[in-house]
Amino acid sequence: MSTSVISHPNRGKWGQSSWRGNCSGFVYQDIFQQLQPRTFCDPMVGSGTSVEVAQEMGIEAFGLDLHSGFNILRHSILDATGKPVDLCLSHPPYHDMIVYSGNVYPGEHPDDLSRCADPDEFMDKLQQALLNQREAVHHGGYYGTIIGDLRRNGQYWSFQADAIARMPGSELRAVLIKAQHNVQSASRQYAGMRLPRVSHEYILLWQRPDRSVALLSTLSCMAHAQQRRIRGTWKAIVRQALVSLGGEASLSRLYEAVAEHAPDRLAGRQHWREKVRQTLYVNDWFAPVERGIWRVA
Ligand SMILES: C[S@@+](CC[C@H](N)C(=O)[O-])C[C@H]1O[C@@H](n2cnc3c(N)ncnc32)[C@H](O)[C@@H]1O
Repeated sequence: MSTSVISHPNRGKWGQSSWRGNCSGFVYQDIFQQLQPRTFCDPMVGSGTSVEVAQEMGIEAFGLDLHSGFNILRHSILDATGKPVDLCLSHPPYHDMIVYSGNVYPGEHPDDLSRCADPDEFMDKLQQALLNQREAVHHGGYYGTIIGDLRRNGQYWSFQADAIARMPGSELRAVLIKAQHNVQSASRQYAGMRLPRVSHEYILLWQRPDRSVALLSTLSCMAHAQQRRIRGTWKAIVRQALVSLGGEASLSRLYEAVAEHAPDRLAGRQHWREKVRQTLYVNDWFAPVERGIWRVA
């Protein structure tokens, strides 16, 4: 793997080809060759592809999965392995694209990541899983996930983009594109569709910092980044509303334009007018013209 695009049409001899949504063993081979881990854990090992490849390459490997009693939402990976590993890489379900418990194997499980009520619940749980993986690697070790996006009824959910946004930005090390082969139902789902069929997945790799950084401080950095993004979003919305009104407008016209252009943003927010005014006052993107009139600075 010397470039960030990986394509392996064959899955090789590892794991089970009959396991729906399995991953080619050659993908794991590439990653192991690149990162050279001595110890590895796959906390959602499915049919065992990754662990078989690792063992063949002389890497000490741990395979865990809901199907054999390990639940990433309730159990610590570190407790299960008994020691931190060099690499912890998961390949979760892509929301409910393929349902695993009670389908691929017997017994429906409420914590199965493929049984979430909606994409938001899936992302909340995937984030917890990634934090669990982070805790299971050495300082300086890598954690990551193989994840595809979902298009359904014309809507597109980019789980990879969400995962990147939700994890510590300073720890992201690589985003690889993996060509997706042999996708079932592809032609049926995309019949008559203008946009190209999704035929790639992502491999996201983060690195736990070398020195000991407390999880709480990482979480507070993540929360801070999130707040900064929300403030930035308000700034962009208010400025675009002003631009759409010719660059200068009264507060009342500005409220109308904001309400028209950003309904999602405002839904459930009682005090959004105050937020608009606060955005105008605290940012040098905006300048007052006279009382109640603002312009783009
Ligand atoms: C895409 S499959 C992994 C396939 C694997 N890479 C292979 O090649 O066979 C996803 C796996 O995540 C597991 N899983 C779902 N929810 C889980 C949970 N809460 N804890 C642990 N594993 C979970 C499922 O049981 C399933 O085996």
